[in-house]
Amino acid sequence: MAEDFMPLDGWDHVELWVGNAKQSAFFYEHAMGFTRTAYAGPETGVRDRASYVLEQGDVRFVVTSALREEHEITKHHARHGDGVRDIALTVPDATQAYREAVSRGARSVMEPRRDEDEFGTVERAAIATYGDTIHTFVDRSDYGGPFLPGYVSASENGHADPGVGLLNIDHIVGNVELGRMNHWVEFYERVFGMTNILHFGDDQIQTEYSALMSKVMSDGSGKVKFPINEPAEGKRKSQIEEYVEFYGGAGAQHIALASTDIVGTVEALKERGFLFLDTPDSYYEEAPGRVGEIAEEWPVLQEHKILVDRDEDGYLLQIFTKTAQDRPTVFFEVIERHGATTFGEGNFKALFEAIEREQALRGNL
Ligand code: FE2
Repeated sequence: MAEDFMPLDGWDHVELWVGNAKQSAFFYEHAMGFTRTAYAGPETGVRDRASYVLEQGDVRFVVTSALREEHEITKHHARHGDGVRDIALTVPDATQAYREAVSRGARSVMEPRRDEDEFGTVERAAIATYGDTIHTFVDRSDYGGPFLPGYVSASENGHADPGVGLLNIDHIVGNVELGRMNHWVEFYERVFGMTNILHFGDDQIQTEYSALMSKVMSDGSGKVKFPINEPAEGKRKSQIEEYVEFYGGAGAQHIALASTDIVGTVEALKERGFLFLDTPDSYYEEAPGRVGEIAEEWPVLQEHKILVDRDEDGYLLQIFTKTAQDRPTVFFEVIERHGATTFGEGNFKALFEAIEREQALRGNL
């Protein structure tokens, strides 16, 4: 294998630019079980924005909004609604990662910079990916403070939540415009040295109405996985097209979060009022025959509408939430893997039909 010119230690954080970070933080805390760990805003000397850091297991979200009209974040929000701005990755050397990426054709968003406070030094740099989304490279190996210099610890102020069992980010899916999937697949190959580990054509991902194509990109270690979707021609509007129309271009479609007890996680989320996509009972007539033996009880999975799929390495359980904002854009997945390394292809049809029922309710199908 060729030398890895872009070693990644894993996901650092996902930053969402939203209309009202104070209320978004409340949603992630109270509906999803995150604990607020750090804050930056006017009270800490940051004059133009407010950012809340939310953590659960190894998952770290940052929600940020701007305080004035004339601001990059305000413009981003007007165009996209609440959405993922930054899929930040932890790297051993942010300057080196940035140089490698830019020399391979990536567009620079932030040149390497070092920020320092009494807790140490963080080095960061950022490049552009699809739409207005970016990847920040973060080297925090010499830092022991709350998130980044400029942030203060918020644990004492927030409520320490036991969480709902979400442990880490499994994958983050990008939706891109018609005909652009291969461009972004090639981008992740060239700039990140990733490989295309799975490919689905529109003949595989098709419902009665809509179709899409998908390729999954993975880094060498398999820690960071980016499925990329593009719409395909169907009888009606593809749900990927609906996303691209309402997001105002390409962007992150869903963030999959891993649990080792999906039933407990889903029960806790439902208790908090979180809403999931429905699955028809007919799914559970066909699923046991397709999937074979599993440790979980089928009636419990059916009660919670948890989906199951099997590949040559094992099986997985997964469920998808309803969209997290009014625009039909970002949503979440909860996934529990039992050896399976794929993404629930056997469920694509059931998933897409569930999304189409929602799309039809919105009058967009
Ligand atoms: Fe997924």
